[in-house]
Amino acid sequence: MASWKGRDILSIRDFSRGDIEVVLKYARKLAPVAEGQKSSRSLEGKVLATLFFEPSTRTRLSFHSAMIRLGGQVLGFSNVEGTSVQKGETLADTVRMVEGYADAIVLRHPHEGAAVLAAEFTERPVINAGDGAGQHPTQTLQDLYTIWDEKGKIDGQGIALVGDLKYGRTVHSLAYALAQFGVSLTLVSPPGLEMPWEIVDELKRAGTQVATTHRLDDVVATADVLYVTRIQRERFPDPQEYERVAGSYRVDLPLLREAKKDLIVMHPLPRVTEVDPAVDRTAHAKYFRQAFNAVPVRMALLEMVLGVGG
Ligand code: NCD
Repeated sequence: MASWKGRDILSIRDFSRGDIEVVLKYARKLAPVAEGQKSSRSLEGKVLATLFFEPSTRTRLSFHSAMIRLGGQVLGFSNVEGTSVQKGETLADTVRMVEGYADAIVLRHPHEGAAVLAAEFTERPVINAGDGAGQHPTQTLQDLYTIWDEKGKIDGQGIALVGDLKYGRTVHSLAYALAQFGVSLTLVSPPGLEMPWEIVDELKRAGTQVATTHRLDDVVATADVLYVTRIQRERFPDPQEYERVAGSYRVDLPLLREAKKDLIVMHPLPRVTEVDPAVDRTAHAKYFRQAFNAVPVRMALLEMVLGVGG
């Protein structure tokens, strides 16, 4: 693998299958540190800036946890209130200034392409923590880690991506990554929220088996992985459109009666109504484990781009 020291993490498409495998194995080695069973000072003296122009709980806190558990420090903001963005400061200026305060920058922004733009204005590594409906590459690595950890391998899995496939950035990145593995994919979305055609096209060109449906019932009995997502309300230009599709799917106990015993249910979270909390108590539910997996995966990525460990 090419050295990741100093590199940006902007899109999952920059990761070859080999790169992905290196990250997953690296993350597994760091899991005891993520769990607090072992300690590490590998990032001592390093500072991470987390700039969140959009709400976040897991992504921001797991980056913080990863950094702190490796002995580093964090600074940043979790919304633009109280920052000079309110005075009209541009993203470019914000990034140029933060470069003087930190060794790497994690950015979440409502506009697609924001992380790519930010990276042009700084020499520091920029990590895309979600750019509008674009990409969320570090989430994808944690999702792949979860599948690999739970199932032992990614190849050969029957994976259903369910929900808002149009605006959901986690499913966009995940689909691109899965094109590098021999999986069969079923895309389940309400009418109007289908996966963008260019992603479907790329999957097919990569030889991935792709099926599409509007019915969740069609996939439950055969899937190995059900990856459920929230309808991305904030990205709908028309609130009435949102109302039309809100609550389209609900994974609940009656639905799961038909599922394979070892089906895993994943969700990048936050969930709204699409996974009934009653599912949490079943062996299918892996979304909280998935949220934890963010920590070892982000630790691995931080060590890679900051050029320590390996
Ligand atoms: C996701 C996001 O922000 O794209 N959240 C996350 O990072 N786990 C999913 C979502 O908001 O629905």
